Amino acid sequence: MGKKAIIIGATSGIGRALAEQMSADGYTLGITGRRVALLDEIKGTLPSETFIQQMDVTDTEAAAAGFASLVKEMGPVDLVIISAGIGHPNPGLDAALELETIETNVSGFVVIAGVAFNHFKEHGKGHIVGISSIAALRGGSIAPAYGASKAFVSNYMEALRIRAVKKKLNITVTDVLPGFVDTSMAKGNGMFWVAPVEKAAAQIITAIRAKKSRVYITKRWRLIAWVLRILPEWLYAKS
Ligand SMILES: NC(=O)c1ccc[n+]([C@@H]2O[C@H](COP(=O)([O-])OP(=O)(O)OC[C@H]3O[C@@H](n4cnc5c(N)ncnc54)[C@H](OP(=O)(O)O)[C@@H]3O)[C@@H](O)[C@H]2O)c1
Repeated sequence: MGKKAIIIGATSGIGRALAEQMSADGYTLGITGRRVALLDEIKGTLPSETFIQQMDVTDTEAAAAGFASLVKEMGPVDLVIISAGIGHPNPGLDAALELETIETNVSGFVVIAGVAFNHFKEHGKGHIVGISSIAALRGGSIAPAYGASKAFVSNYMEALRIRAVKKKLNITVTDVLPGFVDTSMAKGNGMFWVAPVEKAAAQIITAIRAKKSRVYITKRWRLIAWVLRILPEWLYAKS
């Protein structure tokens, strides 16, 4: 039987590119996002069987119910990719912007990761992929809640990986840490090594096939990650 995947946040950017490439590869897909008109439009262009579910991950109860209703339509799935995420430069530390980031990237992530993990536990196997960020590695002065939310995401995925090992569950968890990818989210100055979204998606799919625990996108960002980890704070503050 062909493989089935749900992509949370597939109306644009990385999630949409993953949907396009995985559909071409024969995956049956469940795609979600808030913009239902885009979900309809994308469904019309994808070559494989596709189910759509409008979902705002910040409405956590409705998001869990939306996930359950997708699974009911599709049957058990093999893979859940959580790409939904936002980030705002926040020079004034506007609380509303910080909280919106936390509700989407933290609360929204937790609710979907939880229902996906329990779905895979029930069905004996599965694979969760979360799109974190290089921003997870250090505090980010321009968008503090963004980096902190991604640190949460990466830490949470490590927790789920260890839980799966301890409970002897056949559940893979892949933490994806992109640098800059050319999507509507990546705006502003000071960007470098910006990857085309198709290239980022292709490398994510390769990492999924290899069942990696952690992957930097594109590969060269592994170098930046290494530097970020060892840089003392006084020097990091000058960057
Ligand atoms: N682009 C980069 O340089 C970069 C770098 C590192 C990490 N990332 C991460 O990659 C992921 C995808 O971002 P992207 O670059 O592809 O940006 P994007 O084009 O803006 O895509 C974001 C996706 O998330 C969905 N989304 C946002 N808020 C949502 C909500 N409340 N409920 C449900 N879905 C929601 C959007 O769908 P709707 O608007 O239709 O809801 C959209 O499909 C994010 O987690 C981001 O943090 C991106």
